[in-house]
Amino acid sequence: MEIPKLKIGNLTADIPIVQGGMGVRVSLSSLASAVANQGGIGTISSIGLGDVKDSEHNYESQSRDALVKEIRKAKTMTDGHLAVNFMGVLSNVDDLIKASVNEGIKTIVYGAGIPVKLPAIVPDPDINLVPIVSSARLVPLILKAWDKRYSRTADAFILEGPLAGGHLGFSEEQLEHPDDYSLEKLLPEVLEAIKPYEDTYGRKIPVIVAGGIYDGADIARMLSLGASGVQMATRFVCTHECDVSPEFKQAYLDAKKEDIVITKSPVGLPGRVINNAFLQKLEKEGKLRIKCPYHCLTACKVETARYCIALALVNSYFGDVENGLIFTGQYSYRINKIVSVKELMDELIAGIEAA
Ligand SMILES: Cc1cc2nc3c(=O)[nH]c(=O)nc-3n(C[C@H](O)[C@H](O)[C@H](O)COP(=O)(O)O)c2cc1C
Repeated sequence: MEIPKLKIGNLTADIPIVQGGMGVRVSLSSLASAVANQGGIGTISSIGLGDVKDSEHNYESQSRDALVKEIRKAKTMTDGHLAVNFMGVLSNVDDLIKASVNEGIKTIVYGAGIPVKLPAIVPDPDINLVPIVSSARLVPLILKAWDKRYSRTADAFILEGPLAGGHLGFSEEQLEHPDDYSLEKLLPEVLEAIKPYEDTYGRKIPVIVAGGIYDGADIARMLSLGASGVQMATRFVCTHECDVSPEFKQAYLDAKKEDIVITKSPVGLPGRVINNAFLQKLEKEGKLRIKCPYHCLTACKVETARYCIALALVNSYFGDVENGLIFTGQYSYRINKIVSVKELMDELIAGIEAA
């Protein structure tokens, strides 16, 4: 099979693989630039950056400055395609988006929220706006609002299914029956929902699928079903270039199938994690003590939150996995070694070709 390129607006990636944004420092300049150098799209996550201590006094400028630093660093390491990932539930999301655009980022990926006003924050039509959805339901809602208010349409969608890592756009009940919401079922519905807008704007709106894509055969299957590309995250964690601690990566290597579980996050969404000492402590104690100087998430209520998710994820990033939360996609238990991004990309490309 000849591998199709991935076109998003004015951008063309040689390889239709997007490395998904991974919050709280998992995907920063090192990983994103390595993926971009291999012809994919590398995504820096804007979430949970900044010096933890200093952020107590000035969270907004700390996280903005740290993001700008990562973007600038990535740009010194690659001329390839870089995206930045944002979550709608971030209290400073608009500020971070504007800072990224100022730094020349051309692709804005927006999840965990409905980006109805995104074109007002990014009016430049040459900057790609890519919402993340978990079903076809939000597609007309977003596209109708953008068409009516801004005469604009999406440049691509990421369709994230129930096997993905991190926060998930499904209820806990739905996650007990992932086959009912498989990408194979959801993709045709999303393709159908975008069709009228493709006709109106006279251009293709590519759909990139995410969640449980593990190898080249998975990618080839998704492309044959009408996806224009895939977004992968879990496999990129176990690369030398991934920005997290060796302990975080080791937790992936050690994980067994039964260790991959769903937990309720203070964001108000279920999230997929590795069952570890931190999670067990949380189960036992019900609620951990929280001191919150940041208010980083609009959806997090400090009085009722069971723990500080930012701190729990930062702990894992630094290697204190005993006191940290480890987000993962469903298939980390299949990974058994750490490789370079080039080795992983070569393996995936060979797998697509073989399929
Ligand atoms: C450690 C980790 C952190 C993640 N953090 C985010 C995030 O902050 N924002 C987001 O939109 N998606 C996040 N995701 C989801 C990924 O970007 C991606 O869409 C998904 O995990 C793809 O499925 P896969 O991990 O099975 O390849 C995260 C995934 C992982 C594994």
